[in-house]
Amino acid sequence: MLIKERMNGMHADGASQLPNPLEEFSLDELRQRTSMKWRTHPDDVLPLWVAEMDVRLAPPVAEALHRAIDAGDTGYPVGTAYAEAFAAFAAAHWAWSGLDVDRTAVVPDVMMGVVEVLRLVTSPGDAVVVNSPVYAPFYAFVTHDNRQVVEAPLGADLRIDLDALEGTFSRIRHEGRRAAYLLSNPHNPTGTVHTLHELAAVAELANRYGVRVVSDEIHAPLVLPGATFIPFLSVPGSENAFAVMSASKAWNLAGLKAALAVAGPDAAADLARMPEEVSHGPSHLGLIAHTAALEHGQEWLKALIQGLDSNRAVLGQLLAKHMPDVSYKEPEGTYLAWLDCRHLGVQTHHSPGGLAVVSDLAGPAQLFLDKAKVALSSGHVFGSGGEGHVRLNFATSQTILTEAVERMGRVRP
Ligand SMILES: Cc1ncc(COP(=O)(O)O)c(C=O)c1O
Repeated sequence: MLIKERMNGMHADGASQLPNPLEEFSLDELRQRTSMKWRTHPDDVLPLWVAEMDVRLAPPVAEALHRAIDAGDTGYPVGTAYAEAFAAFAAAHWAWSGLDVDRTAVVPDVMMGVVEVLRLVTSPGDAVVVNSPVYAPFYAFVTHDNRQVVEAPLGADLRIDLDALEGTFSRIRHEGRRAAYLLSNPHNPTGTVHTLHELAAVAELANRYGVRVVSDEIHAPLVLPGATFIPFLSVPGSENAFAVMSASKAWNLAGLKAALAVAGPDAAADLARMPEEVSHGPSHLGLIAHTAALEHGQEWLKALIQGLDSNRAVLGQLLAKHMPDVSYKEPEGTYLAWLDCRHLGVQTHHSPGGLAVVSDLAGPAQLFLDKAKVALSSGHVFGSGGEGHVRLNFATSQTILTEAVERMGRVRP
């Protein structure tokens, strides 16, 4: 299959010849969808908020699902095919051979996996450290499970501030509390891809202060040209950490739930304590789809990444032309752009994100929805440091992206 893909789908220089997956649907076709992105707002709104992509399913994934449906193969899942596919993908793409199938557990989705792993290594009342601004459900899911979220904000350069992290770990230890650290690797919403140096420093601090690390690696296959993804469990000192991975973001499979919790060698005994019923969450069809994506969807992923790379540059040009007061640092990974709108003169929301719902709006995001009919994610839901920002999902066609930024550029507060 790989050889056939190579012959059919690639130039000699390694670029994919497959069509750009982001340019296959018109706006009218996308509006037929019934998912959250397309049904939360009325039809005059361009939705560039929740992390769904405007792509057709990768053909190998669609074929695997069609085959299962045609065969009536809709029973219970069994086996380790998903973990094996992830291990092979990790070896091929990240040169990491340490994903041991024996140290994995299937979980319904990444956030459920995160909660279940945190339950293994923390108790109610313990602290879970996050780098704000960060993916809003990190606050809600953790808090609803009676753990306390403690923020160690990113630096002004949108990278992990190691001094702030150490200060936070140290403070929690002095209070005599246990802590875990929930890392977004790569980081949502900023698109920061953490380096080996940063992750090694994180591992060293975590060991020094007795903090268990849980690395959410859902965006890992979406690292864009110029950056390199480092699996946290490949870093020296990460032996007692966990990663939670999924093919869902990179192949747009959120509706086909399945994810994988992976333990480092010294965390295997903890993972073995995960209740068996957690593995009943992912569906057989979800596991079939995710496994097919990892095994046979690599050429499609390459074409997608080319499209995203192009869109992040086009977005920069559009913003420079239509919204010069908005600062945008190109993301290194993900399809999310973190736009600093603090110079637009919009009144911002004053209470930090906390338990905000992902669709909550305030400040610039409210203004863009009301006046430009463009739905973005509001920065305040990502916690401290998010106010005055919006997150824009650029996994869409350049026609929609252009129309959205032109509309936003015409808005006056
Ligand atoms: C960092 C991060 N973690 C988790 C999720 C959600 O994943 P799942 O739907 O598998 O729970 C997302 C979705 O965008 C995300 O960005």
